[in-house]
Amino acid sequence: MNKGTENKKEIQVSAEEIARQYQYMESIKEANAEYEIKSGRKRLVYLQSFGCQMNENDSERLWGMLSEMGYGEGKNSEESDMVIFNTCCVRENAEEKVYGHLGALKKQKVDNQEKIIAICGCMMQQGHVVETIKKKYRHVDIVFGTHNLYKFPELLNRAINSDSSVIDVDESPGSIAEGLPIERKDSIKAWVTVMYGCNNFCSYCIVPYVRGRERSRSTDDIVKEVQELGRNNFMEITLLGQNVNSYGKDFADRVSFADLLKEINSVEGIERIRFMTSHPKDLTEDIILAFRDLDKVCEHLHLPIQAGSSRILQDMNRKYSKEDYINLIGKIKEKVPGIALTTDIIVGYPGETEEDFEETLDVLRKVRFDFAYTFLYSRRTGTPAAKSADQVSEDVKKSRFEKLLEVQNKISKEINDTLLGRTEEVLVEGLSKNSIWNYTGRTRTNKIVNFKGSKELVGKLVKVKVTGTQTWSLEGEVISW
Ligand code: 5AD
Ligand code: SF4
Repeated sequence: MNKGTENKKEIQVSAEEIARQYQYMESIKEANAEYEIKSGRKRLVYLQSFGCQMNENDSERLWGMLSEMGYGEGKNSEESDMVIFNTCCVRENAEEKVYGHLGALKKQKVDNQEKIIAICGCMMQQGHVVETIKKKYRHVDIVFGTHNLYKFPELLNRAINSDSSVIDVDESPGSIAEGLPIERKDSIKAWVTVMYGCNNFCSYCIVPYVRGRERSRSTDDIVKEVQELGRNNFMEITLLGQNVNSYGKDFADRVSFADLLKEINSVEGIERIRFMTSHPKDLTEDIILAFRDLDKVCEHLHLPIQAGSSRILQDMNRKYSKEDYINLIGKIKEKVPGIALTTDIIVGYPGETEEDFEETLDVLRKVRFDFAYTFLYSRRTGTPAAKSADQVSEDVKKSRFEKLLEVQNKISKEINDTLLGRTEEVLVEGLSKNSIWNYTGRTRTNKIVNFKGSKELVGKLVKVKVTGTQTWSLEGEVISW
């Protein structure tokens, strides 16, 4: 079969290169084993992720390599021999947090010169950030980006054997590395990256500059990974990519995202399939029909609208109007009744007037999303929107944000209320943080349900009758499993 592999020779990291990284892992593993015998304890790593699911999935790859090298997990930076920050740069506050944490590590490095401090992820793909780290955070030992994550064992080996910082950021349009180990944080639900990068260049967004061009993993590699998850009793997978609907567009042999969903739907063991993120301009009819026709594809779609005003959408380079989006939602609701819809919205985009903002509220009321992830516009150096002289003040942004939440929360609660008394299939995830309802899980529509349960239900699909509703969650009673 070997689909979707023809045009990837230049971007696929070679098997020899991956084998070389395994050799570095082996040599560090030996050193760590020696240390463990001498000191009676494993070397520990504290790894903190600051970003989205793609970033978390990258951290799982880092953990795979770290475990292979014999490192254990530290609870905090103080007790750990190595600290890694996997960073995000989508919004400014994530960046600021990282600088704060890095600054705080300086004293630990002075007290313990042996401690290794590594920083990686999206932030490192920006030249100005690397310059700042070189100048102001000289206690950092390793800097690497998203494109060369697979090289971590080699860079670590260099850092261990040298006194100077190791800085290696790959500025190519990106690569695909297969065959690296992975250690997943969850044993019921798993993320599977299906494509990397983004070609859309929305005017506010830094992602295309730091994650490179769109490149899809081969269907065979993805299916193999999902099969392995099925054999290991994972129940649910979420296919990840900045723009999953574009899957396969870079292949000479044109596999579509709907084709990929079909293949994955037939993998044994996996019971639920989700995916994110979709772009309205690329959400084709065959993907909509996948929700209806493929039994494992769950009835939840995350479809970022970003703004309701067609003028702002055009300035954002989103390539659809308010009307296009509303019509698309109409079509989805018609084909897949009961589907849950979530979205991303940015408030305070440069030049957004009160009228523009009213258009966003109008879309919320018309579409009736189950949930909206709302963000204050954040000015990202290097993006076209950052150059606009027409920036909206922080106060105005905040007050619009509050108004948006108020409108959306009311809708979320009203939608949840319609579920009262209904029986839903719930995948039980584990203990709940809620003290009254001790267990928690999610419906196919991705709603959190808290209920009274027991340990043996974890990882199972159970039927839960909805007995109560909150704005962001449901309460229920297990009726069968
Ligand atoms: N400011 C605020 N939000 C942003 N997002 C992307 N870039 C920015 C920015 N500069 C939001 C978008 C995207 C989500 C992942 O983050 O809504 O869908
Ligand atoms: Fe950013 Fe737009 Fe690409 Fe999403 S589609 S990652 S918002 S450029």
